[in-house]
Amino acid sequence: MTESLTHSPWRMSVAPMMDWTDRHCRFFHRLLTRQTLLYTEMVTTGALIHGDVARHLRFHAEEHPVALQLGGSEPADLAQCAKLAQDWGYDEVNLNCGCPSERVQRGAFGACLMNEKALVADGVKAMRDVVDIPVTVKHRIGIDKNESYDFVRDFIGTVADAGCEVFVVHARNAWLKGLSPKENREIPPLRYDVVAQLKKDFPHLTIAINGGIADDATVLAQLEHVDGVMVGREAYHNPWWLATWDAQFYGAELNSDISRESVEEEMVRYMEREAAEHGTHWYSIARHMLGLRQGMPGARRWRQVWSDHRMKQLPPHEVMQAARTKPERHADSPVLVSI
Ligand SMILES: Cc1cc2nc3c(=O)[nH]c(=O)nc-3n(C[C@H](O)[C@H](O)[C@H](O)COP(=O)(O)O)c2cc1C
Repeated sequence: MTESLTHSPWRMSVAPMMDWTDRHCRFFHRLLTRQTLLYTEMVTTGALIHGDVARHLRFHAEEHPVALQLGGSEPADLAQCAKLAQDWGYDEVNLNCGCPSERVQRGAFGACLMNEKALVADGVKAMRDVVDIPVTVKHRIGIDKNESYDFVRDFIGTVADAGCEVFVVHARNAWLKGLSPKENREIPPLRYDVVAQLKKDFPHLTIAINGGIADDATVLAQLEHVDGVMVGREAYHNPWWLATWDAQFYGAELNSDISRESVEEEMVRYMEREAAEHGTHWYSIARHMLGLRQGMPGARRWRQVWSDHRMKQLPPHEVMQAARTKPERHADSPVLVSI
């Protein structure tokens, strides 16, 4: 047995991020890390029950392990959608109790569900009754200015009693009035000590921490206190970091075959396959890999080429060539390619 198999499935994960962690992004992330758990964007129960299920749930076999995040609050709807998640082959279904957006509040789900722990418990129970895959919850440490530890402890206690064994805790409050979702990821202060205390109070539960984690040292420090670390923005903006995770956090051997260039080439093959099979334009795939060369010489120009809408009419392997060609003018000048 390799050492990695002894680790919790939640040891490292890439956060659910609307408009970002779509199946193309997850395919890309999976080229960089074999072990890390990947989350979908939030999909609402309404979208699944009334919309195009395949459009929302289709994913590539290569993405495993992959978790579907649901937004919703009606236990019967959640159960129906959890069943869909299992039938479509997801490894986990996660309930969003952390999103503060007004749209989500109007639907009475997301972070405001933390005020309705009995309803969340009913939802978890309804889902667990119909699926065998893990049912997990992602939430905040509090709502608005209420910083009482008892509030989040009781939330977890009630939801755990309904059978949830895994909690991903975004270590800041959600302020439901007056802040945009973006501000709600930046302004309410991070309190990692609250999450460590939750792990102490619920040692039998799997507790993963999320929020503002952006370097190896912080991940390793957190893994001393909790079972897992979920990373959102830094994973998206600096994806090459993911290429070190299997070795750094799972004890796997460093994969020396992988390079930024090999990943880019693999993505070009993927873009060609997606275009042939689904008519997907490479532009909507390439946007997720623009951070791949972050911190490298020429990164800015490489990124400009891959995001230049004038390149859209070229096939992706030609775009890659253009992105790799040294510019005739100064390295950071605007892209000059005749198309
Ligand atoms: C663009 C964007 C979209 C997000 N969408 C979701 C979502 O659909 N569901 C969710 O639970 N959290 C969502 N989040 C919050 C992240 O999952 C994560 O909790 C937050 O970004 C804090 O982690 P970080 O500091 O590592 O980015 C989103 C964050 C971003 C930046």
